[in-house]
Amino acid sequence: MDKIVIVGGERLRGDVRISGAKNAALPILASALLVGGWNTFHNIPDLVDIKTIRKLLNSLGVEIEGQGTLRVNASVITSCEASYDLVRTMRASILVLGPLVARVGEARVSLPGGCAIGARPVNLHIKALQALGAEVTLKDGYVEAKAARLKGAEIYFDISTVTGTENIMMAATLAEGKTLLKNAAREPEIVNLAEVLIGMGARISGAGSDVITIEGVERLHPAEAAVIPDRIEAGTFLIAAGITGGDVRILGCNPLHLDALIAKLRDAGMRIDVAEDSLRAAGGGSLRSVDVKTLPYPGFPTDLQAQIMALMAVAKGRSVITETVFENRFMHVSEMIRMGADIVIQGKSALVRGVSKLHGAPVMATDLRASASLILAGLAAEGTTVLSRVYHIDRGYQQIEKKLSALGGDIRRVAG
Ligand code: UD1
Repeated sequence: MDKIVIVGGERLRGDVRISGAKNAALPILASALLVGGWNTFHNIPDLVDIKTIRKLLNSLGVEIEGQGTLRVNASVITSCEASYDLVRTMRASILVLGPLVARVGEARVSLPGGCAIGARPVNLHIKALQALGAEVTLKDGYVEAKAARLKGAEIYFDISTVTGTENIMMAATLAEGKTLLKNAAREPEIVNLAEVLIGMGARISGAGSDVITIEGVERLHPAEAAVIPDRIEAGTFLIAAGITGGDVRILGCNPLHLDALIAKLRDAGMRIDVAEDSLRAAGGGSLRSVDVKTLPYPGFPTDLQAQIMALMAVAKGRSVITETVFENRFMHVSEMIRMGADIVIQGKSALVRGVSKLHGAPVMATDLRASASLILAGLAAEGTTVLSRVYHIDRGYQQIEKKLSALGGDIRRVAG
C-alpha cells in the first residue's frame, strides 16, 4: 500500500488552487436520483469518495460520464439497494436514501455502522423520513423505507445533522405539500445543494439558516450546476502555511466559508489577507496558542480540529481543543505524541502544550482529517515522517502531496 514520505522543515511558498468540495459533491451527485435526464455538474473533485458514490449510483442504474465535469442521468433506476460493501466504505452513501424513496417509493440502504470517529448513527435521517410518511423498518442491517408518495411535514432535528438535513431536504422536494426543517444544519454545502435542487425546479427557501422550507412539486427537471470550493482543503492549506512559517496564496476558495478558522489563525499570530476568492496566509514569526471548540457551522469545523491541533502542538503556550460534534475524534493525538507533541486528553478536550520542535516518525492515520493533521505535523517536524494508510487521505484531498510539493514541501508518495 502507498505511503507518504515527508521531510520536514521547508517553508511553503507560492500558489495553490482549491478543488471542489467533497461534502458538496456527494449530495449533489445523489440529487440526480430525483430526476430523469442528463444533469451536468462542474468542479467535481477527483477523490476516492467520489469514485465510491459513482459506483453506488451506477449500481442503482444511474449513468455517469466524465471527470471534473460529470454528466449524470437517472432516467432509469434499476435497483433501490445500497449494499453493505459500498455503505461500509463511505457513510455518506446514506444520501441516496431520501432521493430514492421520494422518486421511486422505496429504498433499501445498509446501515453504516460505527466508524473511527464515533458511533455516528442515522436515527435522525430515519425519524425525519418517518415524519414524511415513509414506512421504515430495520432488517438484516438494512434500512428499508417505503412510501407511495411522501407528505410534507414539520420536522425538528434534535441535533444539527449535515447529511440528515441534506437527505430530508432532497426527499421533501418531491413530497406532497410543505415541509419545514427546523434546527436544520447551516453548512455551505447545504446551500450549494439547495441551489442545485432549485435549479432542478425545487421550491426551497431558507437554506443556510436553521429553518428550511420546501414546497413539494410533482417532478423536477435536470440541471447544470457547479460545486463550491472545498473549505476544509482551503483551511488545511492555511494551516500548512502557518505551521511551516511559509507564505501561500490559496486560490479559488470562498473566504466567507472560513471565518471561524481565519479568526483563530489571526489570534494565533498568522497574517491572513482576504480577497474575494482567494486568501494569502503568512506564518512567519512565532505562533501563540489559542483555544478551539468545534461546533456546527458557522462555528469552528470539526473537520479542521485535527489540523489546528497540529498547529497548536508547535505554538507557544497552552491550548484547549474541545470536540463537541463527534465523541471519538482524537485518534490523531497518540500519533502526534509519537512525534514529540505534548497532548493530554481529558474527556471531550485535548490539552496541548506547545513544544519547540516535533520530530519525524512513522505514523498511521485512522481517518481522513487525522491523516491531514499528520502530514501538517510532518511538514513542521525535524526529520522524516512516513504516513501509512494513505487511502484515508485519498478519500478527501485531491493530490495533496503534489499540491504541497509544488509549494516547496519535501513530500512524496511511494508505492509499497
Ligand atoms: C458531515 C460531513 C463530515 C463532517 C460532519 C460534521 C459529509 C459527507 N460529511 O457528516 O465531514 O465531519 O458533517 O460537520 O458532509 N447524529 C446523530 N444521529 C443522526 C445523524 C447525526 O446522532 O441521525 C450525530 C452524529 O453522531 C454527530 C452529529 O450528529 O455527533 C453531527 O453529525 P452529522 O452532521 O450528521 O455528520 P455527517 O452528516 O455524517
